[in-house]
Amino acid sequence: MPLIRFVREARDVECYPGENLREVALREGIALYGIKGVLGNCGGCGQCITCFVEVPEGTSAAALSPRTGVEDQKLRNRPPNWRLACQALVQESLVVLTRPQVGLQGKEAAFATALAEPLAAGPIAWPQPPQAEAEAEPDEPIESTTGDEAP
Ligand code: FES
Repeated sequence: MPLIRFVREARDVECYPGENLREVALREGIALYGIKGVLGNCGGCGQCITCFVEVPEGTSAAALSPRTGVEDQKLRNRPPNWRLACQALVQESLVVLTRPQVGLQGKEAAFATALAEPLAAGPIAWPQPPQAEAEAEPDEPIESTTGDEAP
């Protein structure tokens, strides 16, 4: 599974390829939002502009899905390596800084440390469910309960 290394929280979190970054963060209890976002975020619609994350320079362009049109519009006055978590799908392992707008003391050193330890690449597809028993042939024919069949 791709690994998301959250620098501010010093946590590594696994997710499935294609999972939404915001949903993974919230599921794992990562504090994605600042005060404004906590008080009223849009729920992931790309309208409130409060779910900023920063991805360090040099991260694979394929680690997250490409910027959406919403991000192009909403992030036009922000650094190019910022994303809206609600618009980004995780494709490969990566390092992420939540709430970059509040700063992080020693950010560059924290990025260097986070990037120095290899990230597991993880599989590139969702796991296949085990063969369902429902697909197996039933042992006995199913009898009708309507009673309108010919004798
Ligand atoms: S949650 Fe509102 S823009 Fe991402």
